[in-house]
Amino acid sequence: MKIKKICCIGAGYVGGPTMAVIALKCPDIKVTVVDLNEERIVAWNGPLDTLPVYEPGLAEVVAAARGRNLFFSIEVDRAIEEAEMIFMAVNTPTKTEGEGAGMAADLSYVEACAKNIAKVAKTNKIVIEKSTLPVRTAEKIKEILDREGKEAHFEILSNPEFLAEGTAIQDLFKSDRVLIGGDETESGQKAVQTLIDIYLNWIPKEQILTTNVWSSELSKLASNAMLAQRISSINSLSALCEKTGADIDELSKAIGMDHRIGPKFLKASVGFGGSCFQKDILNLVYLCRYYGLDEVAEYWHQVIKINDYQKVRFAQKIIDHFGGDLTGKIIAILGWAFKANTNDSRESPAIYIAEKLFKAGAILEIFDPMVSKESIFKDIDFYWEASGTEDLKLRISVLDSVNELDLSIDAVAILTEWEAFKSLDFSKTIVFDGRGILSSSIYSIGKG
Ligand code: NAD
Ligand code: UDX
Repeated sequence: MKIKKICCIGAGYVGGPTMAVIALKCPDIKVTVVDLNEERIVAWNGPLDTLPVYEPGLAEVVAAARGRNLFFSIEVDRAIEEAEMIFMAVNTPTKTEGEGAGMAADLSYVEACAKNIAKVAKTNKIVIEKSTLPVRTAEKIKEILDREGKEAHFEILSNPEFLAEGTAIQDLFKSDRVLIGGDETESGQKAVQTLIDIYLNWIPKEQILTTNVWSSELSKLASNAMLAQRISSINSLSALCEKTGADIDELSKAIGMDHRIGPKFLKASVGFGGSCFQKDILNLVYLCRYYGLDEVAEYWHQVIKINDYQKVRFAQKIIDHFGGDLTGKIIAILGWAFKANTNDSRESPAIYIAEKLFKAGAILEIFDPMVSKESIFKDIDFYWEASGTEDLKLRISVLDSVNELDLSIDAVAILTEWEAFKSLDFSKTIVFDGRGILSSSIYSIGKG
């Protein structure tokens, strides 16, 4: 079967860039990305310098395909009806209430998508899980589609996304692997082949891996867990380095040169952030508990606990430096995004650290080159509005440029490894470097 029309539900950090690349590489396929969030769709259709997702190279890809075979729309039903293949790239955050709150994945957006597809579809569809989902979710989706669908036949595939923010376009152009999980039935394998044919437009066939649906779903959670585990391992050792005079940067290098270990994901940091690692590992922990594997659950939970410990440790280091009280101290926070080259601040360590410094009395001046003022204030409100603290804006300002920094700042905390921060002169202040820009260890230099 040759696909002519694709619909992607969810125009976020995954749906937007992945579909832009599919549209670019498959000019004969019409790709429509839909979302219920009208503001997001308006931005996707707007100027290239204010797309809702910032990714190096994304604007160029959108410029080449948008209006040709790439479309962004709020007409969800229409796009579902037209398409032969539907990607679900909606969010799957950690549940905040009900059974599994604080740990399990909230599948309500995925379920809503499945219901919508079932309601609208009159012709057969291949439905693809692009979102990161707990193992065996496809079973649930199939149940909804079969129960609520009409005459149409649905084939469900798992095709998890491995892109990292900040390098999404590069990752999509040259994926280490594309993973496709499908049913072993004849129709399942046909659907798998149809999706393979799309990727073959730019991905070499050796890099396309097919598995059963459950392995594919679980591989995504497992990959993120293994990556996050490396960061927590190196961060736990950074604490020991600081006690012993060993240098964590030298340690990373020495460890990474063992090719069985390799150099990647060994950079000590203020802790990992982002929308994926924490939620996916918590989800894995929940799954293990659900299956009665308490020891396995505890093992993976420790990765999160070390990450929390690293954030606390960093903030506490600043507070301790000033004798336990930051009242009246002006601290500059450089970087709000959870990593460089993205405008995403979900689960960014900066949010947590800023809160802790603020509560210790600090006056904060925050700057990030890509995260908007509105997003920063939203992140802050999200955590603190419930506590009914004083007016945040009296002690927190978000700057438009790093040049607006108060000259009498008492300390700088570097929380995102933006390239632009590397050339700044911090020689007259105290620097707490959480992202290894000036040195990989967390350190401070004397003031003045
Ligand atoms: P996101 O929040 O940026 O985007 C999701 C979009 O889906 C939102 O714009 C939302 O409005 C829309 N949506 C939700 N329900 C909808 C519905 N019923 N109909 C239409 N639109 C709907 O999320 P994201 O970062 O793109 O992540 C999406 C999924 O991909 C998650 O499961 C995530 O774990 C996974 N993932 C994310 C990354 C990443 O780097 N962000 C990488 C790999 C996988
Ligand atoms: C991650 C996975 O890498 C990606 O494959 C998956 O699809 C989504 O989740 P992402 O969260 O976008 O991607 O970014 P990533 O580069 O993995 O960084 C995650 C966090 O780990 C960031 O806060 C980063 O600064 C931190 N990190 C990364 C470290 O602290 N040290 C490292 O050595 C590497």
